[in-house]
Amino acid sequence: METPDSDIVFQSYGRCCNNPQFFVDFYDRFMGTSTDVRDMFRDTDMKQQRHLLRNGIMQLILVARGMPDSKLRALGQSHSRSGYNVRPELYSVWLDALMDTVARHDAEFSPAIDGAWRRAIQPGIEMIRNAY
Ligand code: HEM
Repeated sequence: METPDSDIVFQSYGRCCNNPQFFVDFYDRFMGTSTDVRDMFRDTDMKQQRHLLRNGIMQLILVARGMPDSKLRALGQSHSRSGYNVRPELYSVWLDALMDTVARHDAEFSPAIDGAWRRAIQPGIEMIRNAY
């Protein structure tokens, strides 16, 4: 039987998280995509933000594995127009920056792993984006 996407992603993320530089590289890449994105983190404590994102990505993966989505609903609220005002189109930029970073950090990375990530976390990302 084929390994479910969410198992492939769980293991890939484990390999990425072994190196804390993963989160440094992600934010360098994501903030490098535009001044718009960089400006949103102007007043952010990035050391703390990297820890928060570590949990946030884990939430996306846990929801793909069938866990309750209440934490993602809360992220939907905080990122909405009444919160950080994250415009919906920025989520595809976020996902591409994440996958570029995974590609560099996961020694076992392949197109199959890229596809597994995108399929597995898309519904959770959609939930956050749709709360806009
Ligand atoms: C804060 C996760 C996408 C901008 C946070 C936090 C988490 C998180 C866990 C901290 C908890 C909170 O404040 O609610 C995620 C996940 C994303 C995502 C999982 C993808 C699905 C984005 C995008 C942007 C963004 C696309 C656009 C630039 C921010 C900002 C903060 C934040 C500005 C607050 C930073 C501060 O406290 O100064 N995010 N985020 N996020 N996120 Fe996201």
